[in-house]
Amino acid sequence: MRTFDPARTEFGSAGPITVARWEQQYQLGERELPFGAMWYTVPAGGSSVRDQHPEPELSIVLSGTAQVEAGGGVTEVPAGQAFLLDSEEAHVIHNRADQPVLIFSAYWMPLGSDPVGRPGDTAAVNAGV
Ligand code: NI
Repeated sequence: MRTFDPARTEFGSAGPITVARWEQQYQLGERELPFGAMWYTVPAGGSSVRDQHPEPELSIVLSGTAQVEAGGGVTEVPAGQAFLLDSEEAHVIHNRADQPVLIFSAYWMPLGSDPVGRPGDTAAVNAGV
C-alpha cells in the first residue's frame, strides 16, 4: 500500500493552474499502472487552459467549487462530487470563487485503443471502435 500526499508533492505550473502528477514523486511509470493521475489547483477567479485529449478523465473536486465548461455548457461541481469527461471532450475548468479549487483527476487510454498511438487512430477512438 502506498499513500499519496499532495502536501509532499511539488506542484508545477501549467498556464494559470498548478499540477502535481503522481509520476513526478512516486515514479509510477505508464507501464506500471494503466492510468495517469494528478492533483491540480485552479486559483481563485482563474480558469484552466482549454484541454482536449484521447484519454477519458475522471475528476473529483476535493475542495472549492469547479465550474466545468464542456459540451457547450457550464456545470457547477462542488467539493465531494465528481465529473467524467469523454475521450476528446474539450474542457475548461473555471473557479469563480475566492478560494482555490483542488481537484484529483485520473485519466487512461480507452479500452481497445492502441496504447502507443498512431496517427489517424483518433477517429476510431471517437467512434468507440
Ligand atoms: Ni483534461
